[in-house]
Amino acid sequence: MTPATTKRAAKAKASPKAKPTPKAKPAAKTKPTPKTKPAPKAKSAAKTKPAAKARPAAKARPTVKSKSVAGPRPVKKVDFPVEDVRRFLEPGPIVLVSSSYQGETDIMTMGWHMVMGFEPALIGCYIWNANHSHALIRKSKVCVVNVPTVELAETVVDIGNCSGRDTDKFDKFGLTPQPGVMVSAPLIAECVANFECRLVDASLIDTYSLFVFEVVKAHAAPAAIKTSPRTLHYRGDGAFMIAGETTRQWRRRFRPEML
Ligand SMILES: Cc1cc2nc3c(=O)[nH]c(=O)nc-3n(C[C@H](O)[C@H](O)[C@H](O)COP(=O)(O)O)c2cc1C
Repeated sequence: MTPATTKRAAKAKASPKAKPTPKAKPAAKTKPTPKTKPAPKAKSAAKTKPAAKARPAAKARPTVKSKSVAGPRPVKKVDFPVEDVRRFLEPGPIVLVSSSYQGETDIMTMGWHMVMGFEPALIGCYIWNANHSHALIRKSKVCVVNVPTVELAETVVDIGNCSGRDTDKFDKFGLTPQPGVMVSAPLIAECVANFECRLVDASLIDTYSLFVFEVVKAHAAPAAIKTSPRTLHYRGDGAFMIAGETTRQWRRRFRPEML
């Protein structure tokens, strides 16, 4: 696999070189000047010299020109409220976090999480200290991160709009708890993936409500491994994005070690 990807990388590197056309444009611009100014003005040595001087400048241009001509265009912006940047920075699929402590279970909806490493598999999760889940997870030091698909959208929103402090959410929402292999928290059977997590760093909880977990056991539905599941992505203000198309068309641009 490595040699193949190296060849692909070599091809990918070769393609940007095939953009010499911008060099022809400066030449085209210098030609009209002498043509529009025939015999009398052509005597002016001062005007022919600048044309000659323009050539070295044209050599320096291609890198800049090729980017502005063939590259992405700048986009016009307007002021945007800083408190709403989350609408652009949604980090990934909405998940359901299940937990248990001394016989009590809970589930919360979570949108603010991030991958922090893959070996060990670390994830950072924002779990607000007003959530009942916060207390259960802090005490038990474990949880399960469950990945629901769009079919569970209504349940996902409703779970995130009530507290397990006074409700058994498994019972209320008709979800099936399954025992974890490595942790005491239950898996949610209706989700396409379940990641059993152990709390490995509690140092940022008081300051940021940020829990750093290590995934110690992962379960995924075969169909969700083969094709990308239709997960929900929260964009704030009640708006969701549903995961759609998956493409590998930019895969060959990766350095092998970055895949
Ligand atoms: C779409 C959505 C995303 C949410 N994301 C988070 C999150 O990232 N962190 C968080 O602490 N609460 C989040 N919440 C809110 C909790 O899910 C909510 O407070 C929940 O009711 C807590 O339940 P609990 O008290 O049983 O733990 C989200 C809610 C919704 C609907």
